[in-house]
Order: sequence, then C-alpha cells, then structure tokens
Amino acid sequence: MDATTPRELLRLLTCGSVDDGKSTLLGRLLYDADLLHDDDRARLGDPPDFSSLLDGLAIEREQGITIDVAYRYVATARRDFILADCPGHAEYTRNMATGASTADVALVLVDARKGVLTQTRRHSWICALFGIRRVLLVVNKMDLVEYDCARFATIEAEYRALAAAVGIAEVAAVPVSAAVGDNVVHRSARTPWHTGPTVLDWLEAVPVGTEHLDRPLRLPVQRVHRDGQDFRGYDGTLAAGRLRPGDAVTVLPSGQRSRVESLYVAGESAEEARQGQAVTVTLADHIDVARGDVLAAVEAPPDCADQFSAHLLWLAEAPLLPGRLYALQLGTAGAVARITAIRHKVDVDTQEPLPATRLAMNEVARIHLSLDRPIAWESYADNRTLGGFILVDRQSGQTVACGTLDYALRRAANLHWQDLSIDRAARAASLQQRPRCLWFTGLSGSGKSTIANLVEQQLHASGRHTILLDGDNVRHGLNRDLGFTAEDRVENIRRVAEVAKLMNDAGLIVLVSFISPFRSERSMARELLGEESFVEIFVDAPLEVCEARDPKGLYAKARAGRLANFTGIDSPYEAPLSPELHLRNHGQPPEKLAQEVVKYLEQEDPDAP
Ligand code: ADX
Repeated sequence: MDATTPRELLRLLTCGSVDDGKSTLLGRLLYDADLLHDDDRARLGDPPDFSSLLDGLAIEREQGITIDVAYRYVATARRDFILADCPGHAEYTRNMATGASTADVALVLVDARKGVLTQTRRHSWICALFGIRRVLLVVNKMDLVEYDCARFATIEAEYRALAAAVGIAEVAAVPVSAAVGDNVVHRSARTPWHTGPTVLDWLEAVPVGTEHLDRPLRLPVQRVHRDGQDFRGYDGTLAAGRLRPGDAVTVLPSGQRSRVESLYVAGESAEEARQGQAVTVTLADHIDVARGDVLAAVEAPPDCADQFSAHLLWLAEAPLLPGRLYALQLGTAGAVARITAIRHKVDVDTQEPLPATRLAMNEVARIHLSLDRPIAWESYADNRTLGGFILVDRQSGQTVACGTLDYALRRAANLHWQDLSIDRAARAASLQQRPRCLWFTGLSGSGKSTIANLVEQQLHASGRHTILLDGDNVRHGLNRDLGFTAEDRVENIRRVAEVAKLMNDAGLIVLVSFISPFRSERSMARELLGEESFVEIFVDAPLEVCEARDPKGLYAKARAGRLANFTGIDSPYEAPLSPELHLRNHGQPPEKLAQEVVKYLEQEDPDAP
C-alpha cells in the first residue's frame, strides 16, 4: 500500500453484556495487539484488569435524546477502526440502533457456558434491522468449558440458524477466552480443532465500506451554492457508485437530466469520485436543483415515492400518535410525514408481531408512512443513506424516531387529483363572501360552542353562508367510532379539519368548535386550511371556572374517577401560543366576545357585504 492510498476504515459494533466478558475481550484485543495508549496500559496494572477499560470511553449526546454510545478509535498496521460500544441499560435498544446504524460489522459475544440467549437474539435482530450484514460470533470463556469443540460447534450452529432467520448474511465464529488470551490476537494451542480466524484476523480481513462502489451513482445534494452569476455548485457525499466529469445524471424527484461539467473533491478539481467521498459538482445545464434532490445515474435512477412500508424505532418519552404530522429527514431530503398505520409492533426479544395502536419509547413497529411529496429512495437493505430516516417533532424539534424504509406502497400512484371546472374561488364568488375557518379551541365548558353559536347567528343575519361543526355533534356521526385517547383526538381533529376544508372549498364560512387540545393538530389544521382562511380563536377560561360551570356534569364524573382522559384533569390541554384571537371568557357576557370575533372578520374583510 503506498502513501497515497486512503487507509481502510472499519466501523465495528460490539454486542454482549459485561457478564459475557465484553470489556475483557476489548481490553484483551487492544492489549495483545499493542494498541493501548501508555496511560491506559498503566491503568490496567499487572496482571492487567481489563474490566475498567471501557469506563473511560467518551459518551455522545444527540439533540435532546441521550444516546450513550462509546466510541474508540484504534489503528493497526492494516486498518483504522472505530469501535462502538453500547452500555447495557434501560435505553439499550435505541443506543444499539444508533451504534448499529453506523457500523459495518458487529461482534456478537456469547458465554460458552450459556450459549445463545434471548439477548443474543435481540442484539442480532437490531443489528440486522439497522443494516449490519456481517457478524463475528465470539464464543467466550472457552476455558470454562475445557475448550470443548462439540460445545462450540453446537453454539455456532444455533447462532447460524438465528442469523439466517433475522437476515444476517455472513457469519464467522471463533472460540475465545478473553481472560486467558486464546484466539483474540494470538492463535491458541488449546483449540487445535479451530481452523477459522482469530478475532483480529477477522477484523483485519472482513471487507468494508465499498459495497456500493459498483452500484449506480447516488449523490444526495446537501447544499446548493452560488458563486457569482454563473457558478452553481452542488455539495454532497456519494452514497453509491462513482462520478466523473461528463457523466450524464438524472435529478430526482424532478427527473430533469444534465451532464457533470466539473467535479471537485476537497476543493481540488478531480477526475473521479467514489462512494463515501464528499464532492462539489457543477452541471452543464441550468436546471433546478435543491437540497434533498438526488443526482443519479440516468441508466438506473432510484424510485420516487410518497407512501412506504417501514420499520420504526420510537425514541421519545411521549408515545407515537398515528395521524400526527412529523418532520421526516431522509438523507439530505425533508418532508412532512404521517404514520397512517401501525401494522404491528415487534417484540424485540422474540421478533413476534404484536397488535398495537400506539408505540412507547424503545418499541419497534412495522408501520405505513405517508409523505407530503415524493422523494427519491431505496430500501434500507440496499442503501442506508436513501433508506434510513428520522422523525422530528414539529413543535419541540426533538428527534422522536428512527426508521428504515422497506418498500413503497403503490396506492398513491393510482390516485390522481381530478381537475374540477368550478373551483373554490368560483363558488365563493357566487356566495359573495370570503370562505374562512373560525377554529374555536378551549377546555370543555370554556364557552366555545356558546360563542361560536352567537357568531354564526350574527353572520347568518348579515347574509353570510355558514356551517358550524361542533365536537359533541360530529362525535355522534362522522366520528362516532372515536374516543378520547390521545390518538383518537388526533384522528378526530384530522377528520374535522378535512371536512372544514371541503366546506371552505364549497365557499362557506366554517365555524369549528372542538377542544382540539394539541398544538400539533391545530397547526396541521392551519396548514391544511391555509393561512388566508384559518382564524384560531382561543376561548380561555380557567379550569376552576369551567369546572364550576360543569354544564354537562362531566368534570364531576372525571373527578370521581368515572370518566378517564378528561381534558384538564388527566389529559393535557396545550394552550395556543399565538392565536389570531384570544377571548378571556371570565366574567364577560358571551355576546361581547362573539362581537369581538365578528369585528375581527369585518376588519380583515372590509368589503364584504
Ligand atoms: S377533542 O379533544 O377531540 O377535540 P371534542 O371537542 O371532539 O374533543 O369533544 C369534546 C366533548 O366531548 C366535550 O365537550 C365533552 O362534552 C365530551 N367529552 C366526553 N368525554 C370527554 C373527555 N374524556 N374529555 C373531553 N371531553 C369529553
């Protein structure tokens, strides 16, 4: 290898528990391969006690969610390594997923006395789900089973069956005693029957990092930059294939084509770039390219889709609510996503499918995902960059889930928008009014419906065409299948927002009077109905006042424990942060508050009849 050839980098995840001898194995590996820093070596003592070694590793924190994955960089004469280790505690699944999603290979450690355990199965499945295809099974503590060849063979056979079942393609196995030092770095005389590699042999020989090199080009655009009038450069890292000046490329999802005019790697003009390299390219034609687009080989572009079947690992403390909108990040692309169905959750220990309507932290599920626009994608199994995604809560900015795309659902492709000759503007014109959506939100008993009713009477009296959608009433018909769990409320608001939009399209002024307790769904309604239509009206009465009024006797029931999930009692109400109108309904006659709403509309729309 000459000095100009880049050194190979292997990212390695270690799975197993302290009981299996994980610290001892890693310590032994670094010690025998002479990879320890002098201070570490001194700390271990003589004879070395490896168990303290891992405690000193760095801990990473990401965006509000604590992910504990310890990384250690080491280099042998042959290769560079990044060792990732996940401390085993309650948030183990998400730590492992984080480690696995960035690793090339995994070491799966088992105790020779115990063999393959439930946790071995769980670790292997998470590895497979997050894209690890090559595993070294390390059967440790062979000294405690007298280096029994038959015992090793049994464990290896059992693990191979498990690996095949969870989708790990390549398995090698090695009998080890980390404490004694057998087959970690030095081949052991005590296992003459073992013909396979030592741990270090395998680590230095396993193929890495180039599996997508001979695949068609995939270059997700990370940044578009302009320099003067003519220069438009696109930055990104090649997720697959190679790129040379002159190559024809398709830009997805638009499908426009051009040719690579110039190519830069690390600021220098280059003749070729390969998978994993960060580049800047310019194209021969002035076409529209945005962050999140993918430049791809014209002869084999990736598919574009907006509906998917995927696996999802839920990371947040608050549960996943199907129906809610989340921000999706996939590669460099962003979209608004909704989980349209939880097909089932998966028991991480047995991989058994279990029915579920919501997901708690650290749970994994197969889901259906719907995006607001098509994106270029590949299955995670084919390409981690174009198939791996995260979901971000749009209110808090917190990362709430990570997931892997499995396949596209074709539904969307067979459904088209029908062009209608009479449009919203035409219908509004014939009614001689501006369609609006007056969205009343507030606690039960806050006076929403009373005020909405008065507003509608006044609008009606002045010749406007209106409709009032009231929570109690709509729940008797369209939404009679929904209760008051958080997920049912999300769906309740989704449906009423869709209905309000249809009514708006019909030209009507729609009054919506629903508790609508969550900011996320109110902002979804705002987006769906449009800023020009949406008027958020916060009917604000203190809980004590609503409770004292208790027009339907529901607060009394809730306090007595006879009504669960009651807003303000044991289900949250998230007050609007910047409503168009904030009505303080405490000691004021409702007529006066209704008048405020009517006045607001007149000011907004002075020409209305
Ligand atoms: S929302 O939260 O999903 O927007 P919605 O406005 O449709 O609620 O329905 C609220 C009405 O249902 C209340 O006015 C009340 O009469 C009735 N109700 C029955 N059970 C509950 C409950 N657990 N929480 C709130 N309202 C309830």
